[in-house]
Amino acid sequence: MTKSFYVTTPIYYVNDAPHIGHAYTTVAGDVLTRWHRQRGEAVWYLTGTDEHGEKIMRTAQAKGVSPQEWVDTLVENEWKPNWRALNIDNDDFIRTTELRHTTRVQRFLQILKDSGHIYAGKYEGPYCVGCEEFKIPGDLTLSGEEWLCTMHGSPVEIIKEDNWFFRLSAFVEPLLAHYAAHPEACQPESARNEVISFLKSGVKDLSISRSTFDWGIRVPWDQDQIFYVWFDALLNYATAVGLGDDSESKGGKKFAEVWPPDVHLVGREILRFHAVIWPAMLMAGNLATPKMVFAHGWLLVGGEKMSKSKLTGIISSEITNYFGVDAFRYYFLRAIPFGSDGSFSWEDMSARYTSELANDFGNLASRSAAMIEKYCAGTLPAISHDANLQAALESTVATADVAMCALDFQSGILAIMDFCKKVNGYVTEKEPWTLAKDPTKRGELEEVLYNTAESLRALAVLLNPVMPATCEILWQSLGAQAQLGDLNEQKINDIATWGQLPEGATVIKTPVLFPRLEVHA
Ligand code: MSP
Repeated sequence: MTKSFYVTTPIYYVNDAPHIGHAYTTVAGDVLTRWHRQRGEAVWYLTGTDEHGEKIMRTAQAKGVSPQEWVDTLVENEWKPNWRALNIDNDDFIRTTELRHTTRVQRFLQILKDSGHIYAGKYEGPYCVGCEEFKIPGDLTLSGEEWLCTMHGSPVEIIKEDNWFFRLSAFVEPLLAHYAAHPEACQPESARNEVISFLKSGVKDLSISRSTFDWGIRVPWDQDQIFYVWFDALLNYATAVGLGDDSESKGGKKFAEVWPPDVHLVGREILRFHAVIWPAMLMAGNLATPKMVFAHGWLLVGGEKMSKSKLTGIISSEITNYFGVDAFRYYFLRAIPFGSDGSFSWEDMSARYTSELANDFGNLASRSAAMIEKYCAGTLPAISHDANLQAALESTVATADVAMCALDFQSGILAIMDFCKKVNGYVTEKEPWTLAKDPTKRGELEEVLYNTAESLRALAVLLNPVMPATCEILWQSLGAQAQLGDLNEQKINDIATWGQLPEGATVIKTPVLFPRLEVHA
């Protein structure tokens, strides 16, 4: 059986509706998985929601509903529709209140307990409900007499409880050895360095249960306690694919097919959970650790991480209503190096929309279709070749493939858009509208029109993972479907093979791909 390429997003807290920070990660995962599907690989893309813990319980209480009612409403009315609106093609959606999750969590943690990785102890120390995290001194800022969570700027609470503990400290050396042998397992390099210095600073055992509230998964051997929300949440990546199920069952087979995960995408504030606690849990359970945790940067507002708690969250429809879904999917990956922080600016997005999407890409597509309609009655002329365009396409595909597979979305998209510029340059240089005036240049005119359409065929495939709806319109406009089949079925490896659009294909004009922006109120 070939292993599926398994990609995950964090499971998001459903204390509120999603904002563009969440969309940033989920779109990145969607582009990555669509790219790999077009490489012909089997892919499994998981996202979902983190529904337990004090933060959600308190939010529900404040709204006067039960936590279950609260999360059910938000998942169905906000989260799932948001991903549908952004054209996210996930294979599964896990909710931590689902039975498939809770039973597998309990079974796995019972195994860790039975094998001596869990013991009873007392926890006393600071906790941030916003982060759902037990804090260490380095995470706190003193304000007057009060300790604040540096991340949320809100006071931490002091917890004093009898809890169950996970022997995390026993995994410090194995984890250091793991990252020395597999540096690619934690990326980018800055993230890996942070994890290594955290591991070297002395990691304590982790409290993994709570007894003062009950919105969580029961500890199977101690009915007075529920699991700490992160211990429950991290396991979603495994419970969603059948963790611990019999190898002949559906779950067991799925697990064998996807495990270990190839890429866990996370924001950099939750790196330690994913690159320290999570692999330690897996090592304790004798399971393979993820091949890569990639910590991307934050979308900033006013220099700070955009967040719901600071009321700086922008919802994606505010942007998509104006720019459209595909421009949204394109913009953040194009504008911000994946791994760095970046600010959202309406002006920058407008400028890129106009110059890169509307002018470079959209205009090329509409000019090409309009000329084929006008000069060739909408019928694609005979196959022809242009050595420069072909060479440029070959190197574009190679560069884009390396970059996209390395999660360097910015370089990948840039390489593709550079090719688009080259094709524009080709059309400008050849001046088909001038050739059309001279009947002796008919052959040359037809060559230019074919080469332009064929370049657009390649662009439709290359940009499809990023802007699927737009590329589908282009695919239809080129008349490619009849001969080449579905756009999603086109393979990255075949893109540079020239001459795929057949002579005689029916090319049709479509509405402009990226309409001119109205003045924003
Ligand atoms: N529930 C935990 C994750 C558990 S995973 C086992 C959680 N949830 S969250 O709702 O707070 O989502 C955090 C994630 O959302 C970030 O790690 C990142 O993927 C995304 N983002 C939220 N705000 C963001 C920005 N301002 N910028 C970029 N990504 C952001 O943490």
